[in-house]
Amino acid sequence: MAARPPERIEVDGLVLRRHQPSDVAALVIAVNESADHLRPWMPWAGQPATVDSMSTFVKSAIADFDSGRNWGYLLVAPTPETVVGSSGLHGRRRAGTLEIGYWVHRQWTRRGIASTAAAALTDVAFTIDGIERVEIHCDETNIASAGVPRRLGFELEAVVPKAPEAPGETGREMVWVATRPRTPKK
Ligand SMILES: CC(C)(COP(=O)(O)OP(=O)(O)OC[C@H]1O[C@@H](n2cnc3c(N)ncnc32)[C@H](O)[C@@H]1OP(=O)(O)O)[C@@H](O)C(=O)NCCC(=O)NCCS
Repeated sequence: MAARPPERIEVDGLVLRRHQPSDVAALVIAVNESADHLRPWMPWAGQPATVDSMSTFVKSAIADFDSGRNWGYLLVAPTPETVVGSSGLHGRRRAGTLEIGYWVHRQWTRRGIASTAAAALTDVAFTIDGIERVEIHCDETNIASAGVPRRLGFELEAVVPKAPEAPGETGREMVWVATRPRTPKK
């Protein structure tokens, strides 16, 4: 078993890699180009991204990755290297559980990028000591987001009340769950 996720994952032509300070400019562009698409669902997208706001985000992503609180990854399409989104494993739920979050640049949606990233991060999560569950949470009306765990075979465990934090949220959140695959007994 691993103690922590890797710094870089390459899967199906997509690179997931931890953030670095030089990512700030590309993130400002990607987030602002996707603003209308992100704003309904991502609480932080209510204001335009700036060099200051993305520098703060990247610094905290780097610190969190090092401290093992959250493992955030930039989603990058290679040649030419292009930022196409972001995803991560977050330890903000109960013990033994990691949650996956994601967003994809609006020009790169419906190509399986979020599904590819979430599938890779689910596999990684179950290599970590003590992790038994992976969850994906999304608003009940966020059809695109719910499509990812549905496509990956997660189970819709519950729909729970949650105070809205972004303008598209209705106050009802889906909780999708994958549990650690059992090793067959010999
Ligand atoms: C949610 C989001 C990350 C999906 O990214 P993506 O890379 O387009 O997702 P995928 O291509 O892997 O799609 C997986 C499945 O979800 C469903 N889906 C995705 N976008 C959809 C849409 N706009 N309408 C209906 N279904 C959709 C489909 O079933 C799709 O599988 P298919 O294309 O084989 O039919 C992207 O739409 C996004 O960034 N949205 C704004 C931010 C956000 O909502 N983040 C999640 C917050 S919980």
